[in-house]
Amino acid sequence: MSYYNNKHIWIIGASTGIGRALAVELSQQGATLALSARREDKLKTLNVDLGGQHHVFPLDVADTDGFIEVAKTVKETFSQLDSVIFMAAIYDPAPLSKLNIETAHQMVDINLNGAFNTVHAVLPILKEQGNGQLVLCGSVAGYRGLPNGQPYSATKAAVINLAESLRAEERTLDIKVINPGFVRTPLTDKNDFEMPMMIEAEAAAKIIAKELQTKRFEIHFPKRFTFLMKFLKILPSFLYFKLISKK
Ligand SMILES: NC(=O)c1ccc[n+]([C@@H]2O[C@H](COP(=O)([O-])OP(=O)(O)OC[C@H]3O[C@@H](n4cnc5c(N)ncnc54)[C@H](OP(=O)(O)O)[C@@H]3O)[C@@H](O)[C@H]2O)c1
Repeated sequence: MSYYNNKHIWIIGASTGIGRALAVELSQQGATLALSARREDKLKTLNVDLGGQHHVFPLDVADTDGFIEVAKTVKETFSQLDSVIFMAAIYDPAPLSKLNIETAHQMVDINLNGAFNTVHAVLPILKEQGNGQLVLCGSVAGYRGLPNGQPYSATKAAVINLAESLRAEERTLDIKVINPGFVRTPLTDKNDFEMPMMIEAEAAAKIIAKELQTKRFEIHFPKRFTFLMKFLKILPSFLYFKLISKK
């Protein structure tokens, strides 16, 4: 029997990209899903493609009150909520000299406040159950400040930090963070530079589905790339800036 049989999993940010591919993978492995994102039409089409046995809950993660309401409905629908995976984010990086402050605030609202809203809405439910998994999505872009990577990079650093605090505080729950390298999705389609060691969303989903079953805190991939980024993370600042500023 598959690990995911009889598991009830809520994927937030399931309409495209890694979240969508993960929904396909977990559905194939037997999970029953709650699918959230803003675009209801995409979620409904996905559910039909997967056989129609899942549940669609449209949600804007920046809406704190709306999030709490949807979380209550998901819990009522499933009774046991085994895992909540927060994948939602937006991306529009630029050099800080060209920062669009409205975009920056919107990115903080979705990527970071969305993660706080997830914790705020879901943690009481998992604590009342006495078990469950809560997974936030960071990025290797959050390991260190990258040139031309803001404000996305700062939101991802904060999400990793948030997941670490949560893991330290909530020892009875299974708290994880996913830190991908480059994955081909509508998000990375915006990049006009060559993305090293990029993998497909389906490959990312397979890795995540496997790693969610382990006790590990951090899920990172592809390893060849993420270990390189981890090396940059431990470099002293003077060396880091020397390397990263080279063009
Ligand atoms: N692709 C990569 O190389 C890469 C690398 C590192 C980390 N990541 C992270 O992986 C996660 C998935 O990214 P992706 O590459 O799969 O991007 P994507 O295809 O653009 O997917 C983003 C998802 O977030 C949802 N979303 C955005 N704003 C939302 C909001 N306000 N409320 C609810 N849902 C919202 C989108 O759905 P709607 O637009 O329908 O709302 C979509 O389902 C993100 O957290 C991203 O930062 C990706």
